[in-house]
Amino acid sequence: MFDRIQGVNLDAQHPLSAGLTADSRLITAYQGSRPDVTPVWFMRQAGRSLPEYRELRVGTQMLEACLTPELASEITLQPVRRHGVDAGIFFSDIVVPLKLVGVDVSIVAGKGPVLGKAVRTAADVAELVALDPAVLDDALAPIREAVTRTTDELGTTPLIGFAGAPFTLAAYLVEGGPSKDHIHARTLMHSDPEAWAVLMAWTAEVTGKFLRAQILAGASAAQLFDSWAGALSLDDYTKYVAPASALAISHVQDLTYETRSADLAADPESVRNSVPIVHFGVGTSELLKAMHDIGADVVGVDYRVQLDEASRRLGGNVPVQGNIDPALLAAPWPVLEAHVLDVLEKGRTAPSHVLNLGHGVPPETDPAVLTRVVNLVHDASAEQNSVR
Ligand code: CP3
Repeated sequence: MFDRIQGVNLDAQHPLSAGLTADSRLITAYQGSRPDVTPVWFMRQAGRSLPEYRELRVGTQMLEACLTPELASEITLQPVRRHGVDAGIFFSDIVVPLKLVGVDVSIVAGKGPVLGKAVRTAADVAELVALDPAVLDDALAPIREAVTRTTDELGTTPLIGFAGAPFTLAAYLVEGGPSKDHIHARTLMHSDPEAWAVLMAWTAEVTGKFLRAQILAGASAAQLFDSWAGALSLDDYTKYVAPASALAISHVQDLTYETRSADLAADPESVRNSVPIVHFGVGTSELLKAMHDIGADVVGVDYRVQLDEASRRLGGNVPVQGNIDPALLAAPWPVLEAHVLDVLEKGRTAPSHVLNLGHGVPPETDPAVLTRVVNLVHDASAEQNSVR
């Protein structure tokens, strides 16, 4: 991760280069070291669990909210202010770059992304990929503006940028909407591997540009969501999906920032670091190693495998993120508390750990419970670190 990386240095004003976020708990843990306190943030921390979000969203469609910089920025900041989490996650959606490149997609409340037309055949794929990803260079302007507004407010708290992995996006494109087993997508990859490869390469470029725009505009880390990769066997994942996911993150892997060694006398050289990349999926216990091997720095783990076992599967040297079972957010506090402490303990088997949920915050979650979890994680991990 360090030194002699051939890459593009981020602007001097970028929060990582300007010394604002490079030493934060989150970035320290993502880079593989243990900070004083275990950092914590929640997938879907922005959104329907917050009354202030529901109020702000009245009368505005989801995708419209994502493309209005003032709104997207304010919604991103809400959970950071309320819970004191160690990172913001940019408020947007994995289908935003599809919308911006010209795909007919909308987000239906309570359901998810719905396409005007499902992409089922080689001819459908050819029609889709005729949409030129180059239009994104201009079309992503509202995303860049929303990110910059947000990071200006966040100061030393890092913003995480994100994108959907090609498979999860392709699952929506091929199914035409949410589905249980993504069966049409899995059929297409086997029945027409060439059309599948074309679809995946195009999707990787579209989603990679979305991710790169967020980092260049001020985000300090990148998370690739392959939410539905757990529907795949390891063989299918490795053959039909991993190359496109590697291509997607290649859009941010060249981005670097410089930090100076604390001991300038011993090491007068500045160190070049790459922007950390997290890779997360649901039900991916069998895929953890393959998901790391695409070139990710950190692996997000869902609640189905415990962190000590996840870390073992990753070889014991990979930072992990996770993995509170979201179902326990509604359990009595002593039950949730014991679970959080157990997750923290198991997370100590990895070189570093960022506490998160095993999937997103359920909309009906009491936000006060999330704030209480943040305080517990900070207090308990500070104590653990001072004892050991
Ligand atoms: O706080 C955050 O995590 C940042 C915002 C975020 C959203 N979507 C906002 C959103 C992120 C990171 C996403 C990613 C996303 N979108 C994923 C990957 C993560 C995951 O949950 O697995 C996926 C699969 C999608 C597709 C999608 N968009 C779904 C399944 C839904 C939920 C549908 C519903 O209403 O239950 C959406 C809509 C969506 N994206 C909402 C939010 C806050 C709900 C829209 C609303 O509030 O009306």
